[in-house]
Amino acid sequence: MSRTIYVNGCYQTYNNALLHVEDRATLFADAVYEVIEIKNGKQVDQDAHLKRLERSLNEIRLETDFSLNTIPFIIRESIRRNRVKNGFVYIQVSRGCAKRDFIFPSETTPATLIIYARSKNPLKLDQKSKKGIKVITHPDLRWKRPDIKTTGLLASVLARQTAIEQGAEEAWLYNKEEQITEGAASNAWIVTNESELITHPATQSILKGVTREGVMRCAKELNLTFIERPFSIEEAKTAKEAFITAATNLVMPVTQIDEKPVHDGNSGPISLKLREIFHEFAQISP
Ligand code: PDD
Repeated sequence: MSRTIYVNGCYQTYNNALLHVEDRATLFADAVYEVIEIKNGKQVDQDAHLKRLERSLNEIRLETDFSLNTIPFIIRESIRRNRVKNGFVYIQVSRGCAKRDFIFPSETTPATLIIYARSKNPLKLDQKSKKGIKVITHPDLRWKRPDIKTTGLLASVLARQTAIEQGAEEAWLYNKEEQITEGAASNAWIVTNESELITHPATQSILKGVTREGVMRCAKELNLTFIERPFSIEEAKTAKEAFITAATNLVMPVTQIDEKPVHDGNSGPISLKLREIFHEFAQISP
């Protein structure tokens, strides 16, 4: 079966799904995006992701010529056409295609909408969660609005690549005060010796993750305290547990930060419990 990708109103075969060279996404990263988990053929927390997409569009002042209400239909169709049972949907909206110029193109320029669904084996992630992952710490070199989910991700790409080259799976980004903001493509959490969950507040310095919100719902169910405050690299290295959250890996225990094992170097029980119950408290599309 050949894969199809939705580009501006048409489902194209994988090799024919092309963007114009002067699309604002390629020239300026003048585009925003979302990644939504698909579990058993259904979208997880779709409403929250689409709400954040709307916010990102508003923040970059991109008014689409199409209604955002059409997106769930295209998502369903993309899942169906690509027969995705487990995986994710990628959605990207750019300010359209126009002669290269820093100022916005004319209001009549249609936005570019791309949507595709791709399979991913969830068992591999579950196996990985038992062992946990290593993260490295890396300076946060991104622009000052990472709360907007734009495709301008070069600083994150370089940080993640450095992590991979050092045998890790994610880079935890730190600011001038040596506080961890978040991961290159995930939110960062620690668990204190008092079993409190700590994560950076949802300011303009981080992306307010949808999975992060889900974990907060789960924490309430488990009667765990969570506190939104910055934590330092040092505090992370002496934490009882650590984990990352993102739609692409849900709750993933962190068992090593730089060269330091987290606690006893095993995936922490709170992290694993949050992973186990995550979908019970998520919104699953009908
Ligand atoms: N990234 N922080 C950053 C910088 C991210 O890029 C992501 C997700 C998150 C977690 O957000 P959520 O829980 O809503 O997925 C936090 C996606 C998965 C990506 O870029 O592939």
